[in-house]
Amino acid sequence: MNLPSKSESLYRRAQAVLPGGVSRNAVLRAPYPIYASHGQGCRVTDIEGVERLDVANNMASLIHGHAFAPIVEAVTAQLRHGSAWNMATEVEVEYAEAMTKRVRGFDRIRFVNSGTEAVLCALKAARAYTGRPKIAKVEGAYHGVYDYAEVSQTATPTDWGAPDHPASVPVCSGTPRGVLDDVIVIPFNDPARAVALLDQHADRLACVLIDPLPHRVGMIPASDEFVNAMHAWARRNDSLIVFDEVITFRVGFAGAQERYRVRPDLTALGKIIGGGFPVGALAGRADVMDVLNPLRQPLLFPHSGTFSANPVTMTAGLKAMRHFDQPTVDRLNALGDRVRRQIAEAIAAEQLPLSVTGAGSLFRIHPTMPAPANYREAFHTPAQAALKQRIVDAALERGVLLIESCSGALSTPMTESDIDELTDVLADSFRAARPQSEPIGA
Ligand SMILES: Cc1ncc(COP(=O)(O)O)c(C=O)c1O
Repeated sequence: MNLPSKSESLYRRAQAVLPGGVSRNAVLRAPYPIYASHGQGCRVTDIEGVERLDVANNMASLIHGHAFAPIVEAVTAQLRHGSAWNMATEVEVEYAEAMTKRVRGFDRIRFVNSGTEAVLCALKAARAYTGRPKIAKVEGAYHGVYDYAEVSQTATPTDWGAPDHPASVPVCSGTPRGVLDDVIVIPFNDPARAVALLDQHADRLACVLIDPLPHRVGMIPASDEFVNAMHAWARRNDSLIVFDEVITFRVGFAGAQERYRVRPDLTALGKIIGGGFPVGALAGRADVMDVLNPLRQPLLFPHSGTFSANPVTMTAGLKAMRHFDQPTVDRLNALGDRVRRQIAEAIAAEQLPLSVTGAGSLFRIHPTMPAPANYREAFHTPAQAALKQRIVDAALERGVLLIESCSGALSTPMTESDIDELTDVLADSFRAARPQSEPIGA
C-alpha cells in the first residue's frame, strides 16, 4: 500500500482548516501544494527532502535568495531587542533616508505592510490630492487585491469588451457597481486608444496607474511613447501618474522608472524592499505625499498601520537594499539577459510555439508565438494553458521551481552556471511538454 507523502498528509489537514487548504492561491498546485522545509542561497528544499533551484523567489520578493547571511544576522540581533513597539524607531528613519537618496523623485516615503496596501495608499493619496474619484489602469494588470486596483485583472474574451473600450470587469463577486464605474480600463502600450479613453473622464481622473513591466499583461516593458503620452496627458489634465513598482523595482538601481525620461508622481513598492519580510511602501513627490502628513490641517488622508515600518522589516529591507548596489544590479541583470537569450535559443532549437519576454532579472515564457504585446494577446487558449502547465510541471520534476505563470525572478546568489543549469532544465522541459498532437492553435 502506498502511504501518502508528507505534503499530501499536510494538505489533507490543511483542507479541514484553510479555505481550499491554502492561505495564498499562488502556492496551490495539483494534486497538492509543495511544503517548504528550508532554503539557502538560490536553492530551496521541500519537506520530502527534494532540493530545487528556486527561480520563483517567493513571487519575485527575495532578491538575495534564502537565508542571506547579512539579513539573518541583522534581523536576529533586532529580534533580541524586540519586534515592534508603539514607538517610532531609528532604523525606519535610516531606511527612509536610504530610499529617498536612492531614487530621484522619492522626496518622501511611507512604509506599509504589503504591495496591495502600497497600491491602495497610492490611489487614495492621488484621490486626496486631486479631489477626484476615478482611477485609470491597464487592462489585465495585477496590482494586488484592492477593489479598484484589481478591476479587469481577470477579464476574458467573453467580457472584456471592444479594444477601444475595454470593460471594467470585476474580479471579486459582489464588487460594487460604483467601483467599476470609477475605474477606467486602458489598453497597454496603445497611447492613442488610452488617451481617447482618458479624455472622456478628464476632469474626474485622479491618476493613471502603470506597472512598467506588467507580469500578467505579458511582461513587456511599457514603451517610452506610452509612458510619455500618459505623463503628458496627466500634466495637461491636473491628474497624477502612479507607478506600481512592487515587482519591477529590482529591474534598476532606482527601479524600472529610471529608464524613462519622465518620472511618476507616486510609486508603490513592495517585495524586495522587505528583505524577505512583509512590506510595502508609497513614495513620491513631497507635495503629493503631504496628504499623509498628520501635522497638516486639514489632514486629507489619515493613515496608520499596526505593523507599518516595524523594525524587523526595516532592518531586513535596509540590509537587502544596501547589498543591492549598482554593480550587483548590473551583474544580476546580465544574468537576466543570459537567461532570456538562452531560453530563446532553446525555443528555436525545439521549434515549439513559445516565446520569452521580460527585463532585468525577470523573465516569462509564453505558450504563444510571437510574444504577446498586451493582455489580450497574452490570454491563453485552453491548449496554450495546458502547454504552459506541462512546462512548469516538467521543470519542477527536473529540479527547478518556477512561478506558476511560467515566469522567473533571479536572485543575487545565482551564478552563470546556475543560469546554464536553469536553461538546460527548461530546454529539457520544453521537449517533455511537446504536445502529442500539433498544432497549439486557437
Ligand atoms: C505588480 C504588483 N503589484 C502589487 C502586488 C501586491 O503585492 P502583495 O502581494 O505584497 O500585496 C503584486 C504582487 O504580486 C504585484 O506583482
